Amino acid sequence: MPAALKFGFTSFARPRGVLVVFCEENLQLGPATQKALAPIGDLLRRAAAADRFTGKMGSSLDIVAPSGLTLPRLVVVGIGKESELKSRDIVRLGGVAAGKVPTSAPSATIFAEFASGALKPAQLADLGLGARLRTYSFDLYKTKRKEGDERPSKAEVNFACSNPAAAEKAWARNSAIADGVVLARDLINEPANVLYPGEFARRASALSTLGVGVEVLDVAAMKRLGMGALLAVGQGSAHESKVVIMRWNGGKRGTDPVAFIGKGVCFDSGGLSIKPAAGMEDMKGDMAGAACVVGLMRALAARKAKVNVVGAIGLVENMPDGKAQRPGDIVTTMSGQTIEIINTDAEGRLVLADVLHYVNKRFKPKFMINLATLTGAIIVALGQEYAGMFCNDDKLAERLTKAGEETGERVWRMPLGAEYDKMIDSKFADMKNTGGRWGGAITAAQLLQRFVNKTPWAHLDIAGTALGSPQTDINKSWSSGWGVRLLERLVEDHYER
Ligand code: BES
Ligand code: MN
Ligand code: ZN
Repeated sequence: MPAALKFGFTSFARPRGVLVVFCEENLQLGPATQKALAPIGDLLRRAAAADRFTGKMGSSLDIVAPSGLTLPRLVVVGIGKESELKSRDIVRLGGVAAGKVPTSAPSATIFAEFASGALKPAQLADLGLGARLRTYSFDLYKTKRKEGDERPSKAEVNFACSNPAAAEKAWARNSAIADGVVLARDLINEPANVLYPGEFARRASALSTLGVGVEVLDVAAMKRLGMGALLAVGQGSAHESKVVIMRWNGGKRGTDPVAFIGKGVCFDSGGLSIKPAAGMEDMKGDMAGAACVVGLMRALAARKAKVNVVGAIGLVENMPDGKAQRPGDIVTTMSGQTIEIINTDAEGRLVLADVLHYVNKRFKPKFMINLATLTGAIIVALGQEYAGMFCNDDKLAERLTKAGEETGERVWRMPLGAEYDKMIDSKFADMKNTGGRWGGAITAAQLLQRFVNKTPWAHLDIAGTALGSPQTDINKSWSSGWGVRLLERLVEDHYER
């Protein structure tokens, strides 16, 4: 399906283009679907038997030029058992449905109906979200198209439903979420020669058109604040480091905000402790945490969330250079604590140490959640299925876990503790920036915790979930935009009251 799609909601009468319908196990169809497919007689049953299609969740059956209908193609998507479907499954079904529409098709109609009848507005919105995310592709830098991959200039997908006006209303929230995820994916996919800290800050500043207040701190401002750890990471780069503070005040005046903080290493070469060449190109995505925070702020502002939120991102480039920091250097953070640099490739925690402290001190948030592609160790531990969650507050951990199960962006709680904390004590300074090979994701989290005090806080290590994403029904891109849906759900269902 083409990237530039128009989505619409319509009635079940007169479908146009490729027709996608849903069926339950044992080929049960809804009433509007049965009516629309009456002219094809037993074609569906015979095709299903020939293809051993039974309607299992996520499976599909393709019938080209179905006789009896004037439509070019009929796609039947299985939903398994309707009673077992959660919100995240319906999002997935939207992805499966959109994925079955060929790129070259100028129009498609998706019948938003299960065997029991038409979908509710919220379910329709989930279907739309999945379809939008599935059809995302990043081809800004492709100047040629493969034959057969040409897109029609105006392609449209219509969701047939019983109450298009109600669907349109429910779609407003999910469309804002989709735009937030797409923005995060775009930022992550951009190469580092285009998206350096200054350019990233400009793109974040564009959120002001949605009513987000944006402040950009430059190096001079950060020097005045004493952000010695963040500045040390960026000092070997030709690009100036930035911190961007975004504020959305949709909640009651004067109530404390919630805060989201993102690691924005626009490129991580490792610095003088340089990384091996293989795979280094992926380190253009070492700003995925920051991208997620920007995408989240966009989603919350676009749907006018009734909540006060601060988004803060630390933007740097980690490069080897005559001016770069060295192993053995000791830096002083804004909090006053000192850090001995053992390995310049453990830079994300240095950036976050200063931004966490700054946000905590200035905004006194109800809670802080930071996102970071922080360690390779978390990929070893959890693969790409769960993000690592480190949390000093059981209630917050529980809410994050729940929001993760609901959205499918799942988190797995990891331990924190005094024994791990000891591993980053230093001979020369208050702490060192690495704790050795064992428990590498945990010792990184321990360093962050030294900068949050008593504020309820969670650190999400998204190195496995954000980049090089496995191909799923709702994402075919290298970047997933992981975290936008999770945190939007956390704010909406668990805090916005
Ligand atoms: N950005 C990397 C972590 C990373 C690795 C993210 C792979 C995504 C994919 C981080 O800055 C890093 O280099 N971490 C080191 C820490 C080590 C030097 C203590 C690591 O994980 O090896
Ligand atoms: Mn690194
Ligand atoms: Zn990094």
